[in-house]
Amino acid sequence: MAITPGLEQGFVQVAEEAAIAAAHTMGLGDREYSDQVAVEAMRKALDSLPINGRIVIGEGERDKAPMLWVGEEVGGRVGDESAASIDIAVDPLEGTNLCATGDPGAIAVFAASERDGLLFAPDIYMDKLVVGPAARGRIDIDAPVAENLRAIADAFEREIEDLTVVVLERERHARLIADIREAGARIRLIGDGDLSAGIAAAVRGTGVHAVFGTGGAPEGVITAAAMRCLGGEIQARLTPLNPEQEERVAELGIEDVDRVYSTDELASGDDIVFAASGVTDGQLLRGVRFFGGGCRTSTLFMSLRDRVIRFVDTIRRDDVATQVRFP
Ligand code: FBP
Repeated sequence: MAITPGLEQGFVQVAEEAAIAAAHTMGLGDREYSDQVAVEAMRKALDSLPINGRIVIGEGERDKAPMLWVGEEVGGRVGDESAASIDIAVDPLEGTNLCATGDPGAIAVFAASERDGLLFAPDIYMDKLVVGPAARGRIDIDAPVAENLRAIADAFEREIEDLTVVVLERERHARLIADIREAGARIRLIGDGDLSAGIAAAVRGTGVHAVFGTGGAPEGVITAAAMRCLGGEIQARLTPLNPEQEERVAELGIEDVDRVYSTDELASGDDIVFAASGVTDGQLLRGVRFFGGGCRTSTLFMSLRDRVIRFVDTIRRDDVATQVRFP
């Protein structure tokens, strides 16, 4: 059964509810609390949908996460095979630090597909290279950084100097950053949020041409779902950084740890949907704005099957007497 018909509005609301809950905690300086309220709100919203859902990327293992754990069943029609049976990858608060400090770029996000349409990714690191439709098919994560930058610049018909590459500001990226600088591209270092950066790379006009570097594997799969909808590309490789993570990969039966995953391998579904709502202001989405008597949210909803990319601007009115501001 196709997953979108009749559910689009509900999917948008799932992202919105998590974003609103998290936004209430903005600046409290408590990233765990922010995450917890986003998880609770997303769980509740998912349960209100007529779906037979299963979490495939979530908040970790059952014994460590109170809800939205990997394998957890969600939705109002769990076990009902006549309902939309879907796999769901959630990141109820992507950018927990950003929310805790009130910095830009925190989002509430999830992707869904028909059963088995999203790769199960262990919660370890993943090396990623993300580009938009213009440079799709031109990159190779195994090629030297300068070669990839040359290919991306050619795709955009410009010089490497006119590219902007986003990289998470981390010690582990010292070599990568040096290589990018040497090749001549401009760099935007970000504190958190490589998922949003990946989406920005696939949207013209954001000034972001690629994302390089190592971040979370779950974020990589959700990015892949977004790339399927936007026509962009992600190449990725799991990169366990310590013996514990190596063990985790082995436990999952992944024998070839050097395997490069393509966009279609990370998010293989035919019926993929993606929804993200801004928690704090970002490049593509505004954060939640509260006003006396309600709030306003900004959401990106995409459906691969329906070929739609929708920006949804929602005003919720707790108090209908409140006058709505234009635009
Ligand atoms: P959280 O919101 O889950 O903390 O993730 C933020 C993030 O910056 C991701 O965007 C990124 O993939 C990952 O953390 C990088 O991990 P680390 O902070 O350990 O380098």
